[in-house]
Amino acid sequence: MELAVLENEAKAKLDSCHSLDGLEQLRIEYLGRKEGKITHLLRGLGKLPIDARPEAGSQINSLKELITTLFSDKQTAIIANEQNQRLFREKIDVTMTGFIPQVGKRHPITNVLEEIVNIFMGLGFEVEEGPEVEYSHYNFDALNIPQDHPARDMHDTFYISDTVVLRTHTSPVQIRVMQGKNPPLRIIAPGRVYRRDADVSHSPMFHQVEGLLVDEKTTFGELKAVLEAFLVAMFGKDTPVRFRPSFFPFTEPSCEVDIGCVICNRKGCGVCKQTKWLEVLGAGMVDPEVFKGVGYDSEKYIGFAFGLGVERLAMLKYGIDNIRL
Ligand code: DAH
Repeated sequence: MELAVLENEAKAKLDSCHSLDGLEQLRIEYLGRKEGKITHLLRGLGKLPIDARPEAGSQINSLKELITTLFSDKQTAIIANEQNQRLFREKIDVTMTGFIPQVGKRHPITNVLEEIVNIFMGLGFEVEEGPEVEYSHYNFDALNIPQDHPARDMHDTFYISDTVVLRTHTSPVQIRVMQGKNPPLRIIAPGRVYRRDADVSHSPMFHQVEGLLVDEKTTFGELKAVLEAFLVAMFGKDTPVRFRPSFFPFTEPSCEVDIGCVICNRKGCGVCKQTKWLEVLGAGMVDPEVFKGVGYDSEKYIGFAFGLGVERLAMLKYGIDNIRL
């Protein structure tokens, strides 16, 4: 009677229970140690006549076992179900297109510098480096630019002290290399240089690549060939190249090298100031005074040198008209 009703009632409630919280409520309702309905029945056994107790006791205990088993089965089922739902919610579609993270790019200066270095390495030049904080002796005097030389004014120098400067060009590396090694020499020296100057085409810090070749025999013709080979590799085989006489204290004769304006294709524009040409290099045959200063025999050795601005080449190559960009 009562037990069968209780059993059906418990089964129905279990069926409609879908959460662990609800299950705990039901467990308390039936099996709770104080108020549980089955616990209550077991307690009531004492009120039955003695000979009825074993039979009733075993029936109630069977029901208790049954319900306990049903509860634990239900608990397993609810946990499994909740886990399935969570897995479903958290499932990852590994075939979905991912977010493409923003990554950095190499700076155009780095690219162009590497390109320049590679071209000259292909021509047999080795890379040398020198300090950015330099003695004014190396930056000027040893390059045949004495204290009162007007060329010093052109350099807008940052002075660290009376005798130390931020190098205004990479040419002092020539001196350091010649002091440390004997000819034959074929080097380039890339690096940062500094000048007190800032506008659309000048920046207080910029990059140059210096070149120096010293041997017992070389000619201005070889200098021209090297620079032409470089400019053609850099700007394309149809690039017009022009050598103009110029002056540098550390080379004699000296020249400046122009390429046909790559911005307007030699029609005339703001960048070439309607001249159709762009100056890209300074160069010349090493002045014997410079050789004397480093202890080279200027009768025995001859050399050529050149210097170029990396930002300028990068701007021309990428069509950028403001150095600050
Ligand atoms: N140092 C020069 C400058 O910064 C560039 C230069 C010109 C370097 C002629 C050279 C050279 O080696 O021969 O303006």
